[in-house]
Amino acid sequence: MPIKAVVFDAYGTLFDVQSVAGLTEAAFPGHGATITQIWRLKQLEYTWLRSLMGRYEDFWSVTRASLDFTLKTLGLEATPELVARIAAAYDTLSLYPEALQALEALAPTRLAIFSNGSPSMLANLTKQAEIDGLLEAVISVDEIKVYKPDPRGYRLVEQRLGLSSAEILFVSSNGFDIAGAKAYGLTVARIERITQAALRAELTSGEIGPAAMFKALRMQPEQLGDEADLTISALTDLVPYVSARR
Ligand code: 2OP
Repeated sequence: MPIKAVVFDAYGTLFDVQSVAGLTEAAFPGHGATITQIWRLKQLEYTWLRSLMGRYEDFWSVTRASLDFTLKTLGLEATPELVARIAAAYDTLSLYPEALQALEALAPTRLAIFSNGSPSMLANLTKQAEIDGLLEAVISVDEIKVYKPDPRGYRLVEQRLGLSSAEILFVSSNGFDIAGAKAYGLTVARIERITQAALRAELTSGEIGPAAMFKALRMQPEQLGDEADLTISALTDLVPYVSARR
């Protein structure tokens, strides 16, 4: 079956969620790494909890609530202005260094994003990174009001693109997203942002910091019975794969 569209997850795949670390550290010296990791861990937990509770609120609301949780848990006081400024970092996340080159090289193929992000967050991100012109569609779970990895999300991608699941190559670094997309039936590429060997070295090098804990919990393949079809170490590795299967 030929690949007719490549669909990217946003956070952790095209955009580096770790790029908020400079701002969190500047706001709370000595706490930046802990804030950055608890914030992202809790943000995803809240997506799952809200979906299970049937209490959807958009990803901006979840991002704000998880930041509030983080600061409260760490006992850090912040003015509403400072909290708003830190949260806004999610609108200006950096693109991974190879992402633009990969998107440009893939461009003869239909390209899209499918993300938990709210439509306005995704619009801000793709505009500031100047990749909006390369994307045919930016698809948000907000249309169905349930977060990844609910199968309705991956079905929405098929419907919006008018393609069958096997014709869509979905790309993600997030273990739960890879498991969900694969369980649904999409062809899935896992972008390996940290190798298992590099992570093991970090985890056995002495004290385990918040970043290593995050990588262990969220950046490794899940053991849920659904493995990616291919694993790549850079988004540009997709170019030969897609050309061969077009
Ligand atoms: C996204 O949907 C999973 O947060 C990730 O962009």
